[in-house]
Amino acid sequence: GVPPFFEPGLEERLREVVRSRRLRSTTNVHEAVMSSDVTFVTVGTPSRRDGSIDLQFIERSAEEVGRALAAKDGYHLVVVKSTVIPGTTGNIVKPIVERFSGKRCGPDFGLCMSPEFLREGSAVEDTLKPDRVVIGEFDRRSGDTLKKLFNEFYGGDIPILRTNLATAEMTKYANNSFLATKISFINSIANICDKVPGTDVEVVAKAIGMDHRINPRFLRAGLGWGGSCFPKDVKALLSFSRSLSYEAPILWAALEVNDAQPLQAVGLARRKLGSLKGRRVAVLGLAFKPDTDDIRESRATVLIDALLQEGARVIAYDPKALDASRNFLGKGIEYAESAESCLKGAECCIVATEWREFEKLQPEDFVSLMKKPVVIDGRRVFNPGDFGGKVDFAAIGLGEAPALEKD
Ligand code: UDX
Repeated sequence: GVPPFFEPGLEERLREVVRSRRLRSTTNVHEAVMSSDVTFVTVGTPSRRDGSIDLQFIERSAEEVGRALAAKDGYHLVVVKSTVIPGTTGNIVKPIVERFSGKRCGPDFGLCMSPEFLREGSAVEDTLKPDRVVIGEFDRRSGDTLKKLFNEFYGGDIPILRTNLATAEMTKYANNSFLATKISFINSIANICDKVPGTDVEVVAKAIGMDHRINPRFLRAGLGWGGSCFPKDVKALLSFSRSLSYEAPILWAALEVNDAQPLQAVGLARRKLGSLKGRRVAVLGLAFKPDTDDIRESRATVLIDALLQEGARVIAYDPKALDASRNFLGKGIEYAESAESCLKGAECCIVATEWREFEKLQPEDFVSLMKKPVVIDGRRVFNPGDFGGKVDFAAIGLGEAPALEKD
């Protein structure tokens, strides 16, 4: 009844389905396969050191499901939901399940690959109302079986796209890489705006987002993308592409921009303070994005490492990710229990995650609490018009004097 990650409303929902006995958990794969018609494989596919995908959990699951299927009569559908490089379901999962079950894919059991597009922090909402569902199918019967399940669940309201296994696998990488590239693109524009007085990337993003061909989503400039998916998936697609002798320069560039993006905030702090050695810097936000306590690949952690290297004294606060950070970041930094106590006595504040509660902070709070009210908005949560005259303000993608937005 306790979810491993924070998400608004998730714990209550989980308790409800456990209490109503609509969700049971077991560590016994045999029992799970015997008492169901469809098995979704949702295990992790982490990166290896070189960025390529580590398939050990997929392989082990396929083996366990195969062993269980050996004892089962009747048709059973296996669906890979984990993010896997094109070819994995057909060339790795299928032969392993066949070997350990002694059965043939097609007549005896079905096989599909259906990529997962949910976001952390809004997983429930995204699951209930996806933009579309993609079904990659080994054969027609497999696809029909999965489509029936989704139709029952969604009542036929969600578009379903059917294709082969490898194309479905590719859609997930293309989807995440496109979104990551879109963010790296706007961050590149932000970094140019930074050098052009009067320009503001927020206004640029708003204007170009009104073009239907571009759309406004995933066009927020900031410290870059983190989390358990974008960095891992872009690296995995790049590595896969290289293995096919194609360099995929656009993916490489998206990663390069992202790796350097947290340093933009360090640059802005240096512009305001000169050397950061011995300076007390307050970092607001540690989670890789708001509404989660997940700090995997968080840009805040990269930012903090860079600040420590500059000799700054870092104090950090996050509404939900303090425990995770204490375990991960260790002793080099101090932690505060509130945004206000984090700001107290600091000479510079950098916003690293756009939590709602930070939007409520007023310029006067920074002035009264900080030793020097230098505010670097790394996630564009504050209105430059309100902050500009009252604190020493800088923000990602904001050339010195803010641009006027006209209706
Ligand atoms: C992502 C994909 O969105 C989802 O479809 C996939 O299934 C898993 O990976 P998630 O990692 O949970 O989801 O978070 P997302 O909301 O996509 O944000 C990823 C990162 O991009 C965060 O660090 C966020 O701060 C950053 N981001 C997002 C921006 O910097 N700007 C934006 O405009 C949007």
